[in-house]
Amino acid sequence: MTLTPEERANLCNAAQEAAKSAYAKYSNFRVGAAVLAGDQIYIGVNVENASYGLTICAERVALCSAIAQGERAFRAIAVACIDADPNLGLRSLVPCGNCRQVIAELAETAEIIICGSDKSFALSDLLPLHFKLD
Ligand code: THU
Repeated sequence: MTLTPEERANLCNAAQEAAKSAYAKYSNFRVGAAVLAGDQIYIGVNVENASYGLTICAERVALCSAIAQGERAFRAIAVACIDADPNLGLRSLVPCGNCRQVIAELAETAEIIICGSDKSFALSDLLPLHFKLD
């Protein structure tokens, strides 16, 4: 079910606030994510590492946090890239490929909300024919 405008605004506020806590000392590109399960919001931020490949994105942190707290059914995931260059457009705001596959695993039917834009996507828009074992 699509979020109400109020739910969308609340979820993006949570993602934008969370982004301020991002650990993005190498890229200076802070990202916050907020997932909605029932009426509960779980947040995540990107956490970088000197060994760059160990960096984890905000979306995966938020989803894993919610999973760790027992949630399994996700209505939406909002992503806020608060340092994105406004000239770069939507490409700099959407979830990366790794996160898309994790969303496919954990939140296949969730609405994917791009904060700071009026855009929402279904997973099938962003990752058609995704890999799946069940
Ligand atoms: N990043 C995210 O947190 N989510 C995405 O979907 C794309 C990229 C982070 C990873 C890295 O810390 C920074 O943004 C620059 O790539």
